[in-house]
Amino acid sequence: MGPFEQAREEIRSRADIVSVVGRHVPLKRRGSYHVGRCPFHDDRSPSLHVNPQLGIYKCFVCGAGGDVFKFLMEHEHMNFREAMEQLAHETGVQLPERTAPDPAAQALSQAARSALDWAMAWFHERLLETPKVLEYARSRGMSDSDIADFRIGFAPGGDTMLAAAPAAGHGREALVAAGLAVRTDSGHWRDRFRLRLVFPLLDLSKRPIGFAGRNLQSGKPDIPKYLNSPETEFYRKSHFLYGLSHSRQEAAKQGEVVVVEGYMDWMALWRHGLRNVVAASGTAFTKDQAKLLARQAKRVVCFFDGDKAGIQAAERSLPVLLTEGLEVRVANLEGTEAKDPDELLKSKGADALRERISGARHWVDFLLDGFWKNHPRPSPDQRADFLRRIHALLGAIPDAALREQCVQAAAPFLERLGIRESDLRETLKNGVPPPPAAPAGPAWRNQDVHTGQKKDILTGIRRAEAQFVHLVLSHPVLVLDARDHVHPSDLVEPRCRALWDMLCAQSEIDNAPPDPKSFAAGLDSSLAGFVAELFQLFEGKPDEMVGRKELDDFVRDLMARKLKEKRRKLAAAFRIAGESNPSKLDEMNQLLAQEAAIFSTRTDT
Ligand code: UTP
Ligand code: MN
Repeated sequence: MGPFEQAREEIRSRADIVSVVGRHVPLKRRGSYHVGRCPFHDDRSPSLHVNPQLGIYKCFVCGAGGDVFKFLMEHEHMNFREAMEQLAHETGVQLPERTAPDPAAQALSQAARSALDWAMAWFHERLLETPKVLEYARSRGMSDSDIADFRIGFAPGGDTMLAAAPAAGHGREALVAAGLAVRTDSGHWRDRFRLRLVFPLLDLSKRPIGFAGRNLQSGKPDIPKYLNSPETEFYRKSHFLYGLSHSRQEAAKQGEVVVVEGYMDWMALWRHGLRNVVAASGTAFTKDQAKLLARQAKRVVCFFDGDKAGIQAAERSLPVLLTEGLEVRVANLEGTEAKDPDELLKSKGADALRERISGARHWVDFLLDGFWKNHPRPSPDQRADFLRRIHALLGAIPDAALREQCVQAAAPFLERLGIRESDLRETLKNGVPPPPAAPAGPAWRNQDVHTGQKKDILTGIRRAEAQFVHLVLSHPVLVLDARDHVHPSDLVEPRCRALWDMLCAQSEIDNAPPDPKSFAAGLDSSLAGFVAELFQLFEGKPDEMVGRKELDDFVRDLMARKLKEKRRKLAAAFRIAGESNPSKLDEMNQLLAQEAAIFSTRTDT
């Protein structure tokens, strides 16, 4: 760890997340954690849980969550350094000197930021004063309030922006850094956006980070229809979803988000009251976009254009979306004349569109349909290829319950291919590796915390394992005791196994109890959610004595289970070998004795 990381860990462990969050959100204590109304969505019940022991917050509805730094970054829109500085001040931790601060780069970055703000207003004014383009926008169905609300703009021809910028105090370099102008190889400065209708691309706090410009010159097939800002420090295409700035609350509320391809589609749907929509900007999903979506909702409806590109985009998006644990359905435009959702709205109205969305098909159904279309009489090889594909997709789903649900949904369709459900399940069991050490995906969101239906972990062994993980997180010192007796592979609940594995690994680094706060900060969002849930499930921190007893019991049960398993295997071997085999009989007796010993030392009543 460098000095910076050391300071970061120091701050993290000293900062009191309850008071930091509590400054912005009224919190109430509930056992070992605090609850309040989540500031990241329109929350009516207290869905935000703040855990002082682990130093994390987590919203059970919208999925927002993280450590104390993340809270300030998301809620106060600070960057990491700013959050560090504020918390360093509060906790009295000395920050290491910045390594070679580059004031010039910083100044340029600030100038670019303000150029973006200025440019949004400037484009918008140009649109309002240019009747012909306003006319075009209206002819595309935009209302005046759309134009105002989404700050639609117009980029005139030539280098008008570069010409106007100095008077507003914006230099050419700043425009380039903002992605608004380019410097050509020959050393000329040029406006990037020319003769285009401009859509601002907004971050989640609705500040412009870039723009997309639709070409307005007809009869010029050689220029791209849409031109976007280049990658800048503000705009990263692979992390961006158009419209999320406006739709994320509704998406969280409904638990579902609809993905369309185009900006025009997005706006048309919004106008008709469909407000849980984002636009993917005509490409397949990236992993980061899928992660972003998974944070808003657990179900996705892909509603892409009806052409080949749209179908391909949907197909390519599947693995990425499924990997993030999202439930995926696909809506289509079949049987309509419309080429995209925007056109369908215009020709058939909002009800027709809603019908398409509610009638969206399970992704397996969608794929199978495409398969039959392309292969009306599939060869055995084609069938096998297709099965492999479905198989790989099913294997990408991190949550067992959701995977099972998909297997069931897939079964009737696959039957048409002559594939039995049991065969599918069998090959899945053998052919697909178990979930990796850190099972991804918001599995915990499938459980309704408000009704307390935590079906996954509430019962039997899984519950005991969950309690065990809660225990060692509450008393990290117990990790050292438990490490020798409980191997990660002993645990059957995948999230418990992943957490225990990580705890063991961390404690082995310096053979010390892991620091719960820095441990929690390193968890991905689904595991962090699971941890938050554990603290809700097993309220209150047991004192260490009680904790040790709980641990002893858990270890004993575990050993008993392992012995029993061994005995079962032995009994099977015994049956096969027959009673004539005295060595097997000896072994059996030994096992039974060990088991009896374990049970006789149980301390609980
Ligand atoms: P479409 O061609 O379907 O555009 O591309 P659209 O939004 O329906 O626009 P209109 O109705 O023809 O005016 C869908 C999306 O793909 C991206 C844009 O994000 C667009 O909204 N795209 C398309 C580009 O980025 N560049 C292009 O050249 C074309
Ligand atoms: Mn389109």
